[in-house]
Amino acid sequence: MLIVNASPRTMGKTTDTAWFGHALQEHGYDVEGFDADHSQQFRAWSLAGKFTFPVHLNASSRFHEEVELPEGKISLADCGHSENHPAVTDSLFKVADLVILHMSPTRADWLRVEKPVADTPFGDIVKRSSVFRPDGKPPTTWVLLNRCSPNSPRDKGMTKYYAERMERAKWNVFDTVIPNVGQYAHSMNFPITGAKDSHFGDLVVEMKEKGLLP
Ligand SMILES: Nc1ncnc2c1ncn2[C@@H]1O[C@H](COP(=O)(O)OP(=O)(O)OP(=O)(O)O)[C@@H](O)[C@H]1O
Ligand SMILES: [Mg+2]
Repeated sequence: MLIVNASPRTMGKTTDTAWFGHALQEHGYDVEGFDADHSQQFRAWSLAGKFTFPVHLNASSRFHEEVELPEGKISLADCGHSENHPAVTDSLFKVADLVILHMSPTRADWLRVEKPVADTPFGDIVKRSSVFRPDGKPPTTWVLLNRCSPNSPRDKGMTKYYAERMERAKWNVFDTVIPNVGQYAHSMNFPITGAKDSHFGDLVVEMKEKGLLP
Protein backbone atom coordinates (compact mmCIF):
# COMPACT_ATOMS: atom_id res chain seq x y z
CA MET A 1 0.00 0.00 0.00
CA LEU A 2 1.05 3.60 -0.60
CA ILE A 3 0.70 6.16 2.20
CA VAL A 4 1.25 9.72 0.98
CA ASN A 5 2.33 12.29 3.55
CA ALA A 6 1.30 15.72 2.38
CA SER A 7 0.63 19.33 3.36
CA PRO A 8 0.26 22.71 1.63
CA ARG A 9 3.67 23.93 2.86
CA THR A 10 6.26 23.17 5.56
CA MET A 11 4.18 21.46 8.23
CA GLY A 12 6.33 18.76 9.83
CA LYS A 13 5.89 16.08 7.14
CA THR A 14 9.45 14.85 6.76
CA THR A 15 9.98 14.56 10.50
CA ASP A 16 6.69 12.69 10.91
CA THR A 17 7.34 10.48 7.87
CA ALA A 18 10.80 9.38 9.03
CA TRP A 19 9.62 8.57 12.56
CA PHE A 20 6.44 6.89 11.32
CA GLY A 21 8.47 4.76 8.90
CA HIS A 22 10.63 3.53 11.76
CA ALA A 23 7.61 2.89 13.97
CA LEU A 24 6.06 0.80 11.18
CA GLN A 25 9.28 -1.13 10.76
CA GLU A 26 9.61 -1.75 14.50
CA HIS A 27 6.02 -3.05 14.41
CA GLY A 28 7.14 -5.63 11.83
CA TYR A 29 6.11 -3.96 8.58
CA ASP A 30 8.32 -4.01 5.54
CA VAL A 31 8.78 -0.33 4.59
CA GLU A 32 9.95 1.39 1.42
CA GLY A 33 10.36 5.16 1.23
CA PHE A 34 9.75 7.58 -1.62
CA ASP A 35 10.96 11.16 -1.49
CA ALA A 36 8.65 13.18 -3.73
CA ASP A 37 9.78 16.55 -2.40
CA HIS A 38 12.26 18.77 -4.21
CA SER A 39 14.02 19.44 -0.88
CA GLN A 40 15.11 15.76 -0.83
CA GLN A 41 15.34 15.84 2.96
CA PHE A 42 13.72 12.44 3.47
CA ARG A 43 16.26 10.77 1.21
CA ALA A 44 19.17 12.77 2.72
CA TRP A 45 18.05 11.79 6.23
CA SER A 46 17.82 8.14 5.20
CA LEU A 47 21.46 8.21 4.12
CA ALA A 48 22.88 10.32 6.95
CA GLY A 49 20.79 8.48 9.55
CA LYS A 50 21.52 5.05 8.06
CA PHE A 51 17.88 4.03 7.75
CA THR A 52 17.36 0.31 7.35
CA PHE A 53 14.73 0.88 4.64
CA PRO A 54 15.50 2.46 1.26
CA VAL A 55 14.23 5.89 0.23
CA HIS A 56 13.96 6.51 -3.51
CA LEU A 57 13.84 9.93 -5.15
CA ASN A 58 10.90 10.80 -7.38
CA ALA A 59 9.53 14.35 -7.15
CA SER A 60 7.77 14.28 -10.48
CA SER A 61 4.36 14.71 -12.03
CA ARG A 62 4.86 11.21 -13.51
CA PHE A 63 5.21 9.51 -10.13
CA HIS A 64 2.00 7.53 -10.73
CA GLU A 65 3.38 6.15 -14.01
CA GLU A 66 7.00 5.65 -13.08
CA VAL A 67 7.00 4.24 -9.58
CA GLU A 68 6.75 0.51 -9.06
CA LEU A 69 5.15 0.00 -5.69
CA PRO A 70 6.48 -3.17 -4.06
CA GLU A 71 3.93 -5.88 -3.20
CA GLY A 72 3.40 -6.63 0.47
CA LYS A 73 5.25 -3.56 1.68
CA ILE A 74 4.15 -0.22 3.08
CA SER A 75 5.38 2.46 0.71
CA LEU A 76 5.69 5.82 2.43
CA ALA A 77 5.96 8.95 0.32
CA ASP A 78 7.04 12.36 1.57
CA CYS A 79 5.24 14.67 -0.86
CA GLY A 80 6.35 18.20 -1.72
CA HIS A 81 4.33 21.30 -0.88
CA SER A 82 0.93 20.98 -2.52
CA GLU A 83 0.94 24.78 -2.93
CA ASN A 84 4.16 24.91 -4.93
CA HIS A 85 4.12 21.50 -6.55
CA PRO A 86 0.47 20.69 -7.25
CA ALA A 87 1.43 18.52 -10.23
CA VAL A 88 3.53 16.24 -8.03
CA THR A 89 0.76 16.12 -5.43
CA ASP A 90 -1.86 15.31 -8.09
CA SER A 91 0.32 12.49 -9.38
CA LEU A 92 0.77 10.90 -5.95
CA PHE A 93 -2.91 11.25 -5.09
CA LYS A 94 -3.81 9.27 -8.21
CA VAL A 95 -2.21 6.17 -6.69
CA ALA A 96 -2.38 6.82 -2.92
CA ASP A 97 -4.17 4.24 -0.78
CA LEU A 98 -4.11 6.65 2.14
CA VAL A 99 -3.23 10.34 2.45
CA ILE A 100 -2.04 11.79 5.73
CA LEU A 101 -2.32 15.56 6.03
CA HIS A 102 0.28 16.84 8.49
CA MET A 103 -0.42 20.16 10.21
CA SER A 104 -0.11 21.93 13.51
CA PRO A 105 -3.10 23.09 15.55
CA THR A 106 -2.44 26.73 14.75
CA ARG A 107 -4.43 29.37 12.91
CA ALA A 108 -1.63 29.80 10.36
CA ASP A 109 -1.61 26.13 9.36
CA TRP A 110 -5.40 25.87 9.47
CA LEU A 111 -5.73 28.88 7.13
CA ARG A 112 -3.24 27.40 4.64
CA VAL A 113 -5.22 24.14 4.57
CA GLU A 114 -8.80 25.44 4.58
CA LYS A 115 -8.71 29.08 3.41
CA PRO A 116 -5.64 29.70 1.25
CA VAL A 117 -5.67 33.08 -0.44
CA ALA A 118 -4.03 32.18 -3.75
CA ASP A 119 -3.96 28.36 -3.82
CA THR A 120 -6.37 25.47 -4.08
CA PRO A 121 -7.70 24.33 -0.69
CA PHE A 122 -6.07 21.03 0.28
CA GLY A 123 -9.45 19.27 0.47
CA ASP A 124 -10.19 20.21 -3.13
CA ILE A 125 -6.86 18.74 -4.26
CA VAL A 126 -7.83 15.47 -2.57
CA LYS A 127 -11.29 15.53 -4.13
CA ARG A 128 -10.16 16.34 -7.65
CA SER A 129 -7.92 13.26 -7.73
CA SER A 130 -11.04 11.09 -7.76
CA VAL A 131 -11.54 11.46 -11.52
CA PHE A 132 -8.17 9.80 -12.13
CA ARG A 133 -8.63 6.92 -9.71
CA PRO A 134 -9.95 3.50 -10.71
CA ASP A 135 -12.78 3.58 -8.16
CA GLY A 136 -13.69 7.20 -8.93
CA LYS A 137 -13.33 8.09 -5.25
CA PRO A 138 -10.78 10.33 -3.51
CA PRO A 139 -8.18 8.56 -1.35
CA THR A 140 -9.03 8.06 2.31
CA THR A 141 -7.48 11.00 4.12
CA TRP A 142 -6.58 11.47 7.79
CA VAL A 143 -5.16 14.47 9.61
CA LEU A 144 -2.19 14.08 11.94
CA LEU A 145 -1.81 17.06 14.28
CA ASN A 146 1.83 17.69 15.04
CA ARG A 147 4.00 20.15 16.93
CA CYS A 148 1.19 20.37 19.46
CA SER A 149 1.86 22.08 22.76
CA PRO A 150 2.95 19.37 25.20
CA ASN A 151 0.35 20.95 27.50
CA SER A 152 -2.35 20.41 24.87
CA PRO A 153 -3.12 16.72 24.34
CA ARG A 154 -5.97 15.82 21.96
CA ASP A 155 -8.62 16.79 24.50
CA LYS A 156 -7.21 20.11 25.63
CA GLY A 157 -6.39 23.62 24.47
CA MET A 158 -5.67 24.48 20.85
CA THR A 159 -5.13 20.83 19.90
CA LYS A 160 -8.71 20.06 20.91
CA TYR A 161 -9.96 23.25 19.25
CA TYR A 162 -8.43 22.51 15.84
CA ALA A 163 -9.12 18.76 15.99
CA GLU A 164 -12.80 19.55 16.49
CA ARG A 165 -12.77 22.32 13.93
CA MET A 166 -11.33 19.95 11.32
CA GLU A 167 -13.80 17.23 12.27
CA ARG A 168 -16.69 19.66 11.88
CA ALA A 169 -15.40 20.28 8.36
CA LYS A 170 -15.63 16.48 7.78
CA TRP A 171 -11.93 15.67 8.08
CA ASN A 172 -10.87 12.45 9.83
CA VAL A 173 -8.49 13.41 12.63
CA PHE A 174 -6.27 10.88 14.41
CA ASP A 175 -6.61 10.57 18.19
CA THR A 176 -2.82 10.36 18.33
CA VAL A 177 -1.16 13.78 18.22
CA ILE A 178 2.54 14.59 18.02
CA PRO A 179 3.85 17.07 20.59
CA ASN A 180 6.35 19.84 19.93
CA VAL A 181 9.42 18.40 21.60
CA GLY A 182 13.16 18.50 21.06
CA GLN A 183 13.24 14.73 20.55
CA TYR A 184 11.64 15.31 17.14
CA ALA A 185 12.81 18.87 16.42
CA HIS A 186 16.48 17.90 16.54
CA SER A 187 16.26 14.41 15.07
CA MET A 188 16.80 15.16 11.37
CA ASN A 189 19.78 13.36 9.81
CA PHE A 190 20.38 11.30 12.95
CA PRO A 191 19.51 7.60 13.25
CA ILE A 192 16.05 6.94 14.68
CA THR A 193 15.65 4.36 17.42
CA GLY A 194 12.81 3.51 19.76
CA ALA A 195 10.11 4.80 17.39
CA LYS A 196 7.73 2.04 18.50
CA ASP A 197 7.73 3.51 21.99
CA SER A 198 7.20 7.05 20.72
CA HIS A 199 4.00 8.83 19.67
CA PHE A 200 4.54 7.33 16.21
CA GLY A 201 4.25 3.84 17.69
CA ASP A 202 0.91 4.94 19.17
CA LEU A 203 -0.07 6.12 15.69
CA VAL A 204 0.69 2.69 14.20
CA VAL A 205 -1.45 1.03 16.89
CA GLU A 206 -4.31 3.47 16.26
CA MET A 207 -4.12 2.91 12.52
CA LYS A 208 -4.20 -0.85 12.97
CA GLU A 209 -7.22 -0.54 15.26
CA LYS A 210 -8.96 1.65 12.68
CA GLY A 211 -8.23 -0.86 9.90
CA LEU A 212 -6.01 1.61 8.04
CA LEU A 213 -3.03 -0.78 7.97
CA PRO A 214 -2.89 -4.40 6.86
N1 LIG B 1 7.14 17.18 16.71
C1 LIG B 1 7.96 18.21 16.50
N2 LIG B 1 8.38 18.96 17.54
C2 LIG B 1 9.18 20.03 17.35
N3 LIG B 1 9.62 20.44 16.15
C3 LIG B 1 9.24 19.73 15.08
C4 LIG B 1 8.40 18.58 15.19
N4 LIG B 1 8.18 18.09 13.94
C5 LIG B 1 8.86 18.89 13.10
N5 LIG B 1 9.50 19.88 13.77
C6 LIG B 1 10.27 20.97 13.20
O1 LIG B 1 9.41 21.71 12.32
C7 LIG B 1 10.13 22.16 11.18
C8 LIG B 1 9.49 21.61 9.90
O2 LIG B 1 9.56 20.19 9.94
P1 LIG B 1 9.81 19.36 8.61
O3 LIG B 1 11.05 19.78 7.93
O4 LIG B 1 9.65 17.93 9.01
O5 LIG B 1 8.54 19.84 7.77
P2 LIG B 1 8.18 19.56 6.24
O6 LIG B 1 6.68 19.64 6.14
O7 LIG B 1 8.83 18.33 5.77
O8 LIG B 1 8.82 20.82 5.51
P3 LIG B 1 9.14 20.93 3.93
O9 LIG B 1 7.85 20.63 3.23
O10 LIG B 1 9.57 22.35 3.76
O11 LIG B 1 10.19 19.91 3.63
C9 LIG B 1 11.56 21.67 11.38
O12 LIG B 1 12.29 22.72 11.99
C10 LIG B 1 11.41 20.50 12.34
O13 LIG B 1 12.56 20.25 13.12
MG1 LIG C 1 10.18 18.04 4.21
